[in-house]
Amino acid sequence: RPSSFSQQECSSDLWSDEENGDINWDNLGFGLVPTDYMYVMKCSRDDRFSSGELNRYGNIELSPSSGVLNYAQGLFEGLKAHRRGDGRGFLLFRLEENAKRMQMGAERMCMPSPSTDQFVHAVKQTVLANKRWVPPRGKGSLYVRPLLIGSGPILGLAPAPEYMFLVYAAPVGTYFKEGLAPINLFIETEIHRATPGGTGDVKTIANYAPVLKAQMRAKAKGLTDVLYLDSVNKRYLEEASSCNLFMVKDNIIATPATDGTILRGITRKSIIELARDLGYQVKERLVSIDDLIAADEVFCTGTAVVVAPVSSITYGDQRYEYKTGAETVSEKLYKALTAIQMGHVEDKKGWTV
Ligand code: COI
Repeated sequence: RPSSFSQQECSSDLWSDEENGDINWDNLGFGLVPTDYMYVMKCSRDDRFSSGELNRYGNIELSPSSGVLNYAQGLFEGLKAHRRGDGRGFLLFRLEENAKRMQMGAERMCMPSPSTDQFVHAVKQTVLANKRWVPPRGKGSLYVRPLLIGSGPILGLAPAPEYMFLVYAAPVGTYFKEGLAPINLFIETEIHRATPGGTGDVKTIANYAPVLKAQMRAKAKGLTDVLYLDSVNKRYLEEASSCNLFMVKDNIIATPATDGTILRGITRKSIIELARDLGYQVKERLVSIDDLIAADEVFCTGTAVVVAPVSSITYGDQRYEYKTGAETVSEKLYKALTAIQMGHVEDKKGWTV
């Protein structure tokens, strides 16, 4: 295959099911399995993105003084492609929402962004070019990672002169090592994920490295991940390191309202809508530590995580246990969401392409 090819070449033979003997589909976690192609599109600071191309997946060249390396001027997105049941292609979930979130983040980070059509086109091209890496049904999905970075050189603090939009993909299974089993969370009281006026509600790369220390501390205690508190009152829950938070009390669902410090999760938004369709009351409000301690059920949502039930939360020396398993609200919502994402039911909402 050539190192880059046109849309025409890419879209021929779309639906054939090539065997991929390079991978054991039964042991997919969330590790990086490199695939064949990535999509690359570039533009300068005062311009708009115009056209991109598929290149062989591989290292990219960056100036040591690029905006992203020096000042973290960068955003990322995440979405998944699932293999369809009828063997004809793949399903992508609400990718226009990812495009819009990237545009919102780009505005915050002073970067040009791809249009929704450019974003959608790039994602579709990347999935099709890597179609042999989409796991068989029931074994996982192809995780697609769009990146928008300040690639041009800059020394004084200012927006970079050039930008790169890049989309790569990797086959994945479950996000947490627990698989689909419930997870155990730790409420972090010293490290905060976001502050008012900061960038907590956009998907900038700079939101993620600062929580690694908290995550490592929780893992050292044998726990799965961390829940962060608001940085002002230090008593309201915000989200986990890589996903949004929900709780259920007396059959009413609550999730922290997105007031600027919480990521506007696309899975979060979809779960709220599906829960209301199923007849649940859903409140977007402040969720205090006391609320969480008193909850019947707790779960997390995210593209990578999907819907993860929480079996325990550790706060200080206390461990609180929650209902998990059959007939829980989170199980019903997991089934409702994944049925649409995997094409098990007709998509009446028009969420998939
Ligand atoms: C996702 O769920 O797609 C994310 O971006 C979270 C990431 C830390 C894996």
